[in-house]
Amino acid sequence: MKNICVLVSGGGTNLQAILDAQSRGEIKGGKVSCVISSKDGAFALERAAKAGVKTRVIPRKEYADAALYTKAVTEALLEEKADLVVYAGFMTILDEQIVRAFPYKMMNVHPALIPSFCGKGFYGLHVHEAVLQSGVKLTGATVHFVTEVCDGGPIILQKAVAVENSDTPETLQKRVMEQAEWELLPRAVSLFCEGRITIREGKAYVD
Ligand code: GAR
Repeated sequence: MKNICVLVSGGGTNLQAILDAQSRGEIKGGKVSCVISSKDGAFALERAAKAGVKTRVIPRKEYADAALYTKAVTEALLEEKADLVVYAGFMTILDEQIVRAFPYKMMNVHPALIPSFCGKGFYGLHVHEAVLQSGVKLTGATVHFVTEVCDGGPIILQKAVAVENSDTPETLQKRVMEQAEWELLPRAVSLFCEGRITIREGKAYVD
């Protein structure tokens, strides 16, 4: 059984999707063993506790810079013996130390079709605001491996979602979550734990 550690910062609906998939027996070969939050009081922590999963809080605001914070999170993940690290609405950028410790063992869910609407500054509602501003008719979600390039690691799964004329950033965020993120992330987690994702020439393939 692989140890899955989930990093969160907020509401934790993507964490919930993984926990629900786990209770339906859909995460094959892995188990969520720890949830780590960058914020005290994040609702995601309550979801984890309710599911009987160990929680840890490593508050970003208590660390002077990204390097010190990354060191603390990396050490915690090593202590937890993480085989897979999942960024599920984790809103803090970590530096390359963690990528060296967990190469191709960390995945992130992003609420758009990478390489559009991604990179520094594109997180949470800001992504959906930018999508609506641009006038594109399709958006979606992407699950990708985390590398030192922000939102630039090998893409594992993607799903498109239609943009409606009447959308606000909030309605679009909700549709992208319901129709894409909550489906893709648990599937990608299971595929990883089943050993079905390989990297060839810098790209991820599901076999
Ligand atoms: C999700 O939409 C996730 O894709 C996004 O934040 C939301 C977190 O919701 N993540 C990013 O923008 C990361 N760049 P949740 O806490 O309910 O899972």
